[in-house]
Amino acid sequence: MKIIAGNWKMNGTRNTLSEMIAALEHIDTENRVILCVPYTMLCTNSGKINIGAQDVSAHDHGAYTGEISAKMIAETGAKYVIVGHSERRQYHNETNAIVRAKASAALASGLTPIICVGETMDEKQAGKTMEIIESGVRESVPDDTNGNIIIAYEPRWAIGAGLTPSAPEIATAHELIANTLTDMGLANTPILYGASVKGTNAAQIMSIPHVDGVLVGGASLKPDDFIPIITSTK
Ligand code: PGA
Repeated sequence: MKIIAGNWKMNGTRNTLSEMIAALEHIDTENRVILCVPYTMLCTNSGKINIGAQDVSAHDHGAYTGEISAKMIAETGAKYVIVGHSERRQYHNETNAIVRAKASAALASGLTPIICVGETMDEKQAGKTMEIIESGVRESVPDDTNGNIIIAYEPRWAIGAGLTPSAPEIATAHELIANTLTDMGLANTPILYGASVKGTNAAQIMSIPHVDGVLVGGASLKPDDFIPIITSTK
């Protein structure tokens, strides 16, 4: 069983989500499918597909115009929320400390945070990939998770770029994350790979040790692209 999570970013409508859910309804798979959609689509009746949000406020409630709390997300029936996606880190200056606070807020309302970590091209070229990944995990994961988290390794330079690291690079990154989580007492945490996953590379990526699933951006928007990823592995 793998976890196949889609991240719709700021794309789609309630209609295209209903079409996707209808298309996924009869797929024969043991995999856990999650669609992380814009807030306006959270209340959609999704059948066996799990719904998640893409961000959450670190605050419980109050004068934070435009923000959405974990409790508000949870009351829509959503079960997951992405935190610390590279686009949030890049465009909204989210640090590991902010990501950690958001993950804590999610956990307090019973949501499973999908916590993203990964290096930029500058960090990769400076030879800092392992350091960024390890500090990302250690500093973004809250203390008290009850084992209810998912980690996503997303090399930031590869997102939406049609680029993927080599299989040995993915294996090394995931092994480091697995070892770091074990050291933190979180040995069974699922670890997803994300960045330019497609139907043509999904099976190979998910056969790499410590890759428990994928987080898919562009290729999760259309059934014809997303279904081959879901069915590429049992
Ligand atoms: P991509 O995006 O699959 O379009 O590269 C992945 C992500 O941002 O989660």
